[in-house]
Amino acid sequence: MTVLAIETSCDETAAAVLRGYGDVVAHEVFSQARIHAAFGGVVPEVASRNHLESLPHVIGRVLEGVRIGDLDAVAATAGPGLATALLVGVAAAKGLAIGAGRPFLAVNHIEGHLLSPFFGEEQIPPHVALVASGGHTLLFDVEGFGCYRLLGRTQDDAAGEAFDKVAKLLGLPYPGGAEIDRLARSGDPARFRFPRGMRASGDSQFSFSGLKTSLRVFVERGFAAADLPDICASFQAAVVEVLVEKTFRAALACGRNIVSISGGVGANSCLRAAAEDAARRQGATARFAPPGLQTDNALMIAYAAMHHLKAGHSHPLDTDIRPNFDVDGFSA
Ligand code: KG4
Ligand code: ZN
Repeated sequence: MTVLAIETSCDETAAAVLRGYGDVVAHEVFSQARIHAAFGGVVPEVASRNHLESLPHVIGRVLEGVRIGDLDAVAATAGPGLATALLVGVAAAKGLAIGAGRPFLAVNHIEGHLLSPFFGEEQIPPHVALVASGGHTLLFDVEGFGCYRLLGRTQDDAAGEAFDKVAKLLGLPYPGGAEIDRLARSGDPARFRFPRGMRASGDSQFSFSGLKTSLRVFVERGFAAADLPDICASFQAAVVEVLVEKTFRAALACGRNIVSISGGVGANSCLRAAAEDAARRQGATARFAPPGLQTDNALMIAYAAMHHLKAGHSHPLDTDIRPNFDVDGFSA
């Protein structure tokens, strides 16, 4: 089976064609990051206008060499995300589904991230999943495809949002996560002690706004540019420690020996190393999305759509977008 998927939930205009669970026919991501960098963050109206402009070209490229009649379904991210951005991808997918005479699939962006570490595989094993992106920090106990139980989430900022906001405070370019990761490599994570939000809360909830405030106060006191690597490494350690500790503790509590980490923050080198380490200590396995599938892309949406298609799902053409994360609308 072959699926065309479209992703326009934030500032990446992406499309992909996937055959089966892992045969990548085509995969394109146009990042608008440079356009939004001028504003220091994503401007929804600008994102949606750029999706409208770029999407026909991106779709055209992934459909080179593919006949529309070869598609078994057309999928799009229907949420969560920026409403006016989601609308562009969903409208395009519905139009193509009508043109191809094939079913439309409305895919949840979080489910796309959550399944991405298993890209190429037919079975989703029981595991605990951390989805840490720019908009969300969510922890799930996963029984298999379609069976997700929310264990906890951030009470304020998302982990990626904390990276982006702290990067901005430090005068680093948007998006800041990768930049902090790069600078932290030569820094000392023990030089400064920043707060570990909700570390001792005894549950699976997260909080990153206190950490962000602590960084703001620190920055306002003034710092030397030469200290940037140490500041980045110390901040990053505070985020990573709580994410890894709580995720692996939840895995123990749920009796799972597989942990998956996905979403843009899942690209963080310190997070990956700490998770590998925790997995070794716990006799567990840590799974991450393959390179290029950590930050937003359409291949993860196509992979999630393939699972839905094989499960016999399809969605009516009047299916609306769902800009907010909604646990009830999440499980298939
Ligand atoms: O999943 P994603 O592409 O978009 C959302 O669904 O939000 O995640 C983007 C987030 C941004 O906040 C970005 O700063 C962060 O992921 N990010 C990173 C790294 N690469 C991207 N954060 C930490 N370290 C990285 N290497
Ligand atoms: Zn995302």
